[in-house]
Amino acid sequence: MPLFQAKNIRAGYGDVVIVDGVSISVSANNLVAIVGPNGSGKSTLLKSLLGLARLFSGQVLYGDRDVTRIKSWQAVEVGLGYVPQVNNVFTNLTINENLEMGAYCRRDKAGIKSDLEETYQRFPELAARKKARAETLSGGERQLLAIARAMMAHPKMLLLDEPLAFLSPKASGVVLNRLLQIQAEGTSMLLVEQNTIKALQSASYGYILNQGRCVMEGKGQELLADESLRERFLGLGKEV
Ligand SMILES: Nc1ncnc2c1ncn2[C@@H]1O[C@H](COP(=O)(O)OP(=O)(O)O)[C@@H](O)[C@H]1O
Ligand SMILES: [Mg+2]
Repeated sequence: MPLFQAKNIRAGYGDVVIVDGVSISVSANNLVAIVGPNGSGKSTLLKSLLGLARLFSGQVLYGDRDVTRIKSWQAVEVGLGYVPQVNNVFTNLTINENLEMGAYCRRDKAGIKSDLEETYQRFPELAARKKARAETLSGGERQLLAIARAMMAHPKMLLLDEPLAFLSPKASGVVLNRLLQIQAEGTSMLLVEQNTIKALQSASYGYILNQGRCVMEGKGQELLADESLRERFLGLGKEV
C-alpha cells in the first residue's frame, strides 16, 4: 500500500479552479517528483494537500488514514513535513532558533536537544553558524535550514516546493544530495521542481503538470527520455 495518495484533486483559490483531476501516489522510502512549467499549479497542488489552498474535491490518504482537509499543523503531527517555496525560514531569527521552531509541536526537551546535535552533524554548514541570523545565509544554506527545520518534527514524508530554485548548479547539487541522503535514511519525498532534469533523474516516479492537469506520469528516467515531452512540457529540446 502506498504511504501517501492524493486522488482526483481539484484545487485552487476562492472560486477559481487551478488544479483539476490530479492523482499522486508515493510509496514508502521513495522520491516522487512533480515537474512542469511555471504557473502549471505545482505549488497550488502541494498547498491544497496541507490545507493551504482550497480543496474543492478529491481525497488524501496517508497510509490507511484519511487526511483530506487536514490543517497544516495537523499534517506535521501525523508525519508530513512541508518545505514551502518562499519565505521558508525566519530570517530575523538565528539558525538555532529556526531549528527549535521546527520542533514546536514536541514536548520532549531532551529529545529536541539531541536532535539539534544530530542535525548539526548532518548539516555542518549550519553548525558553523548557530548564532547567526538566517538572513545572513546564502540561498543554498537557507534551503538546507528549511529542510533541517522540517526534519526536526520527525516527518515520515517531506513535501518540498522547489528547494533548488534560484540556486547555482553547485548549491543545488549540495541541496539535492542532502535530500537524497535523508531519503536513503528512510524519509519519503514528494518533490516539486522546475529543475526538471535534476528532479526526474533523482525520482523513482514523476508526474508532469501542465495547466493544472497531469499530462504524463511514469518512471523518472522514462519521462526524461520521451522526446515529445521534452519539447512540449519540459523545455529541454531534443536529447543530444
Ligand atoms: N494565492 C493565489 N490566489 C489566486 N491565484 C493564485 C494564487 N497563487 C497562485 N495562483 C495562480 O495559480 C496558478 C498556478 O500557480 P502555482 O500553483 O503557483 O504554479 P507553479 O507552482 O506550478 O508555478 C497561476 O495562474 C497563479 O497565478
Ligand atoms: Mg510554485
